[in-house]
Amino acid sequence: MTQDELKQAVAQAAADYVSEHAPAGSIIGVGTGSTANFFIDALAGIKSKYRGAVASSEATRKRLEGHGIAVFDLNDVDQIPVYVDGADEIDNALNMIKGGGGALTREKIVAAVSDTFVCIADGSKLVETMGNFPLPVEVIPMSSAYVARELAKLGGTPVIRAGFVTDNGNLILDVKGLRITDPKGLEAQINQITGVVTNGLFALRPANVLLLGTADGVRTIG
Ligand code: 5RP
Repeated sequence: MTQDELKQAVAQAAADYVSEHAPAGSIIGVGTGSTANFFIDALAGIKSKYRGAVASSEATRKRLEGHGIAVFDLNDVDQIPVYVDGADEIDNALNMIKGGGGALTREKIVAAVSDTFVCIADGSKLVETMGNFPLPVEVIPMSSAYVARELAKLGGTPVIRAGFVTDNGNLILDVKGLRITDPKGLEAQINQITGVVTNGLFALRPANVLLLGTADGVRTIG
């Protein structure tokens, strides 16, 4: 199977999960990226059962609306039973690195409000220890040089993502070379650097369920 076929398979499995676990009339949280895009397409097939969705990025909002799915402002939504999103890396404890698409802050906010985080990923994303994928850190533009120096003190090599501005008007530093042996501790430590909006470690609020696409079918972990 190609990587896209694996992504499509987990996206369909996530739509089945939503059908089974999210009450009719509820609002679904929707992530960002190529795997999330396949999920949006699958969600379109069951859209009549739900009031609509909360989007974790402008790109996702546009795709949802293109399918005729109502998109709600998160401030108007009290509860999201299920949030479905991809990951750049995920470990066996369901800690993740996210933000390859630059939507990490809104993704983390929607995840915080959601009861259940369902991560959808092809098998290549499951790792023993995270850190091969450069850790994205969203920063207020005027702080980028300072934050980069502080991240270097932690052992990382930060590089500003060229030509990229987040939906929130900020910059992304992609940090190579971090040893992520304590994901929760590192997530908290980086978030304490003044100027950091958030970082792409999702360990303080990890996924609850991983739907992993493999050549043998979709594995459910968690
Ligand atoms: C976007 C993300 C994505 O979930 C992550 O980058 C995975 O993307 P893809 O499904 O395209 O591999 O965090 O900010």
